[in-house]
Order: sequence, then C-alpha cells, then structure tokens
Amino acid sequence: SILIVDFGSQVTQLIARRVREAGVYSEIAPFSQAEAAFHRMKPKGIILSGSPASVPADGSPRAPQVLFDSGLPILGICYGQQVMSEQLGGKVEPGDSGEFGRAFLTVTEPCVLFDGLWAVGERHQVWMSHGDKVTQFAPGFRIVAVSDGAPFAVIANDEKKYYGTQFHPEVVHTPDGGKLIANFVRHVCGCAGDWSMAEFRRTKIAEIREQVGDSRVICGLSGGVDSAVAAVLIHEAIGDQLTCVFVDHGLMRMGEAEQVVSLFRNHYNIPLVHKDVSALFLGGLAGVTDPEAKRKFIGKTFIDVFEAEARQVGGADFLAQGTLYPDVIESVSFTGGPSVTIKSHHNVGGLPERMNMKLVEPLRELFKDEVRALGRELGLPEIFVGRHPFPGPGLAIRIPGEVTKERCDILRKADAIYLEEIRNAGLYDAIWQAFAVLLPVKTVGVMGDGRTYDSVCALRAVTSTDGMTADIYPFDAGFLSRVATRIVNEVKGINRVVYDYTSKPPGTIEWE
Ligand code: XMP
Repeated sequence: SILIVDFGSQVTQLIARRVREAGVYSEIAPFSQAEAAFHRMKPKGIILSGSPASVPADGSPRAPQVLFDSGLPILGICYGQQVMSEQLGGKVEPGDSGEFGRAFLTVTEPCVLFDGLWAVGERHQVWMSHGDKVTQFAPGFRIVAVSDGAPFAVIANDEKKYYGTQFHPEVVHTPDGGKLIANFVRHVCGCAGDWSMAEFRRTKIAEIREQVGDSRVICGLSGGVDSAVAAVLIHEAIGDQLTCVFVDHGLMRMGEAEQVVSLFRNHYNIPLVHKDVSALFLGGLAGVTDPEAKRKFIGKTFIDVFEAEARQVGGADFLAQGTLYPDVIESVSFTGGPSVTIKSHHNVGGLPERMNMKLVEPLRELFKDEVRALGRELGLPEIFVGRHPFPGPGLAIRIPGEVTKERCDILRKADAIYLEEIRNAGLYDAIWQAFAVLLPVKTVGVMGDGRTYDSVCALRAVTSTDGMTADIYPFDAGFLSRVATRIVNEVKGINRVVYDYTSKPPGTIEWE
C-alpha cells in the first residue's frame, strides 16, 4: 500500500485515485497524523501532496522525520517536492513569478518515473501551480526534467528512491501523469498492482462493521446511484441492522420511484420503508416560484419526513449517506478560497446533529465513476448504475415558476422521450446529464390547422467529469429535430422545443 501525506492540497484525493487506477491501495493521512498512519499501515511507499502553504513561511507543515528514516521510496509533488528538498538539506525560495496552469517540460535525463513513457529530449505538457521553487537541491539528487519556470521540474535520488515533481501529475491536465504515478507505485515501490474494487468492497465492509458494531443504521435513499450503492454496501456489511427510508416526494423521473422500491425489496431483499409524500410536497410547493424557496422547502420537508420515519422504525445511532468526494471539497480549484453559495444543495445536512446520530459515509473518498464501478461490483443493475445524476429537489428545479402535479407529469413525459432517444442513439453514456426543463412560457403554434398556445420545453445535455464545470453536448441537428418532433407530437401541453447551448460556467447545469 501507499501512504499519501496530505498537506491540504485541493487535489490530494486525485493522487489517491491515480494510485487506485494503478491497481494499488492507498490511504490519505493529514500530515499531523502521518506518523501514526505510517506505523499502522506499514506502506511500501509514500507520496507527499501539494499544499496551499509555503515552505519558507513560518509554521508551514513538514513531513514526519520517520518517513525519511524508513528507507521507503518517496514521491513529492509540488509542495511535497519542496518540503522534501528542504528537509533533506536543500533550499526553497519564494519565486518572483509563479507558474500556473499548462506548462511544458523537457526531459534531460532518463528516470524510472519516465519508463515506457518519456525519452530524453522530449517535451511534454504538465500542469503547474506553484509560487515557490526549489533553488538548491538536497545532496544526492539530480535533475531529470526542466521547465521554463522550474529548473527542477523533476528531481531524482535513485539511491534513496526519492523523486520530486514540481508539477501536478495527478490532474487530468498532465496527460501522462497517471502513468508517471503508476511507474512510481509499481516500479519504484514494487506494489503488485492487483488491487481492485473487489478489494475496496472487502476493506470497506470490514471498516463499516468495526465502526457500527451492533448499532442500528438508517439510510435515506434518493433514487440516485450514490445512496443506493452506499445502502447496498452497508447492508452487505451489517445485514438487517440497516433500514432504508425512501422519502418519495413525487418529483422523480418517469418510473424511477418504482425502480427504487423494486431494486431494494425484490432484487436485494433489503428492508425498505417507502413513504409516499408527494401530496405533502406538491401542497407545500403551491404558489412557490422562487428557486431558493423551493430548494429550502424541499430540503426542510425532506428532513422532517425522514426524521419522523426514522423515529417510527425505532431510531438509529448512525445515519448512512452516499457522500462522494466532490461533495466533500468546497471547490476543486488550486487556489481554494471560500466558495459562495450558488445554490443551497439538498442533502440531509443538519440531521445528524438534530437527531444525535453519527455518520457512516463509505463512499467519501470516491469519485462518481468509481462509485459506479463499485455498484457494478455489488451487482446493481446497469440501468441503475449508469444513470445520470439527479438533483435532490428533483423535477421541482426543472420547472421554473410554480410546480404542479400537472406540470410534473408533462415534464416527465417529455424527459422520458428525450432520454429514450438518447439511449437509442447510443449516446447515454457519453453524456454526464441530459434532461428536459419545462418553461413557464407559452408560445403560439399551429397543429393540424389549429392554433395552439402551450408551454416551451428546453432540452439540456452536458459533458462533465465532476459536475463542477460542464460543456454542452453537441447533438447533430437530425437528432434534435427528431426529439423535438416526438415531444410536440406526443406530449400534450408542449408545442415548442428549444436546446440550451450554455456551458458551466457561466450557466449552471440545472436551471434553478
Ligand atoms: P449545478 O446546477 O449546480 O449542478 O451546476 C451541479 C450538479 O449537482 C446536481 N445538483 C444537485 N444534487 N442536490 C443534489 O444532490 C441538489 O440540491 C442539487 N442541485 C444540483 C446537478 O444535477 C448537477 O449534477
């Protein structure tokens, strides 16, 4: 296994992810707990992460000395490279100009990290994000790659098996970065590369059992992949100590509520409380048009219902959630900074304190596609696992203006046609999210020689890796006109269809 020492970089989890992709197990420990983690884990190698801190600044974090005394291979990334250099006797100084974003380095000497990848003299794209730089390296090191702004872009001490990169190999903008990390963990550290989601499943099950003991756990299902995977995994760990509660707000897509119920009751035989409260939700949404007011009402009502149901089943000590890594970080930007609330996200935040429950969040370190892989590993049907993300407040935030049962039904039909056509065209998996939006705008049309005056439906489809940024999906015109024709012909209440051509930013994925 690999110990990743976290100095607070926004992208430390990406290092763990790349290590997993290389088939190797890793754990992340904050620098202050790295020594304990090192003794517990007995890793084969160590990776030091980046950081918003500055090595020359007073009080900036250091790696525990025991890591250097251990004789294990170490890869330092960005701050990790700098802190390693400084702790081993080199020098780090604030640069007069930093390097941020895309940069190119030139390979000057062979290095095991570049095996099968980069040859001497070649130039390669990498992603930099640093102000400080190493100005004098520690004894025993040699330079193996340079960039304009970082003369020590990659340094190596082959005898000690210490390596340092000034750039970030873990981000996608360093196209070969994953392979570089794989070279480190497999060739330098000698990890076998046979770790898989099956292994993750076993480890997590053991962890859940240890955390929960013989207490009761309650899990809210949203109909989405994340909560379903979390619930199935936890059920595998603790069986019927888990109760799932599905608060059905009536704002789901076509057929989805039925699918959730059938998956849990029939496919897995997991105890499920299905609470149909659509009337309560639609009643409360009557007359509400402000997006934040909708979100707040739905979030609060969801919690109220969930809490009442949880008490009904006899209470629980733990609340299970399908929290993913992107939900944990505030923002994936390197510079960080406090993020502003664009939308108040709907989750069961606040509930654990209110009900005095502890959290079980087995998916906290995973990214969406890894959760899907785990779902497949757990035998969830493909239709469930591959499903596009769906927001907690459901269709309510895809119906600008007032939400009514009638408008939900209209939207569900249009959305189902759109998704069916996308699946038929074989495009579903290439798209991060596709959905229809029902606009509170009526326009005039003509059908069968008669005048119509009906609603406009907007179609949205985006590609994304994490939902933080997104690009529009460029359907061909034939596809869009086929969908538009079907929707207008088949859905009463819609007589016009438009396509949303806005990326994120400046748009958001959902309309509200
Ligand atoms: P936006 O609209 O902010 O959405 O660009 C980014 C991603 O988050 C989903 N989303 C939500 N997910 N609760 C959720 O669980 C919410 O309240 C919520 N609002 C948006 C959205 O579908 C997209 O995938």
